[in-house]
Amino acid sequence: MSVSMETIVNLCKRRGFVFPSSEIYGGFASTWDYGPLGVELKRNIREAWWHYMVTARENIVGVETAVLMHPRVWEASGHVAGFSDPLVDCRTCKRRFRADQIPPKADRQCPKGMECDFTEARQFNLMFKTYVGPVEDEAAIAFLRPETAQGMFVNFLNVQQTSRLKPPFGIAQIGKSFRNEITPGNFIFRTREFEQMEMEFFVKPGSDEEWFDYWREQRMRWYTDHLGIKKTHLRFYHYKKEELAHYAKACTDIEYSYPFGWGELEGIANRTDFDLRRHAEYSGKDLTFFDEETRERYFPYVIEPAVGVDRVFLVCLLDAYDEDVQDNEPRVVLRLHPRLAPIKVGIFPLLRKEGQPEKALAIRDLLKHHFTVFYDQAGSIGRRYRRQDEIGTPFGITVDHQTMQDDTVTLRDRDSTQQIRIPIDRLIGELQARLSS
Ligand code: GAP
Repeated sequence: MSVSMETIVNLCKRRGFVFPSSEIYGGFASTWDYGPLGVELKRNIREAWWHYMVTARENIVGVETAVLMHPRVWEASGHVAGFSDPLVDCRTCKRRFRADQIPPKADRQCPKGMECDFTEARQFNLMFKTYVGPVEDEAAIAFLRPETAQGMFVNFLNVQQTSRLKPPFGIAQIGKSFRNEITPGNFIFRTREFEQMEMEFFVKPGSDEEWFDYWREQRMRWYTDHLGIKKTHLRFYHYKKEELAHYAKACTDIEYSYPFGWGELEGIANRTDFDLRRHAEYSGKDLTFFDEETRERYFPYVIEPAVGVDRVFLVCLLDAYDEDVQDNEPRVVLRLHPRLAPIKVGIFPLLRKEGQPEKALAIRDLLKHHFTVFYDQAGSIGRRYRRQDEIGTPFGITVDHQTMQDDTVTLRDRDSTQQIRIPIDRLIGELQARLSS
């Protein structure tokens, strides 16, 4: 089913996935805080990406580099000169817009009967500036990184030599990035502080186009086969020459069909040898790779799949949201892939007597070392199931009268709502099998 952004924002707030940041002060400029369920979902997204991109491959390794980097990094990368958007101001309503994204007249908020009176477009650099140390002068200026990628380029030799890797090989990183976006919005789709998952894949020049195709296919497969995102909600968008970033020879976005239209989810770029060449030039260090076997020396080309954790988070919720009717009662159900679900197992005593709560708590203590679990004894069993369905919990265990006699429980599946009876000592194996299938 299609779901509105408003429904997702409300669900996130109501159930503790995402809260407006600094809410008690009225919120703060498109910033958001992740709540107890949100951090679990985010952790699962990062873990799924890391497993697919790093752990399950023998030629990709990880790093975690600093947010603050030498200011020369951003001169070399081209961000000081070119990382900007065209900005226009309205002299009447005083609002600011990206010149290429001016909203329709009805949404511009100029006083009744007045027209927006725009200034000429000027380039606005998107990097956040700060000062390092106690003196706020030109020499102390530093930038919050607008992409994690540069931390990997400047460590190219450190990683290549310590890990004894030769192209093709990759360096991966997950971390925060910052951009002073002119028009953030659509909830967590575009924010000024966000988290990226990026991988720089270094290849021999000449093999770059082949690897570009490989990574486009691999990345699409991650969404469909590993996160369970519907194929019909995803598509590729191939950039035209004039749309390419200053460092790219080719770029393809994986787009998602958001409630506000098709938009970017992930970008896969062929960055050529631009970054390594520029850092070699600006740092004076030799950043070429020397192939001992062929005696060739070259700057590797780079293929880069890059995506925001927050954007994957939004897509997972939008794609999983569903409403149906169970036992004549409407329910909201998040059909999240079990791998992503913040809580894997809900545990419920049917009655608050006969020792059922104690038995259910003992099962919780048994399972909590293997899965994220949640114990709930409040309200009717139907309401308890629905509370878990709404946050995507794939499995529910109920302790009932029969449990007290034969140590079996019912195991309920979120999507089909079907229940089977199973001995307690088989629960861990059964849940592990279902989670990895
Ligand atoms: N290193 C390449 C790079 O940063 P990008 O297309 O600008 O490329 C990569 O960003 C991904 O990061 C995007 O596809 C998107 O998922 C995420 N992203 C970029 N800007 C964002 C923002 N302001 N808010 C949330 N996510 C953002």
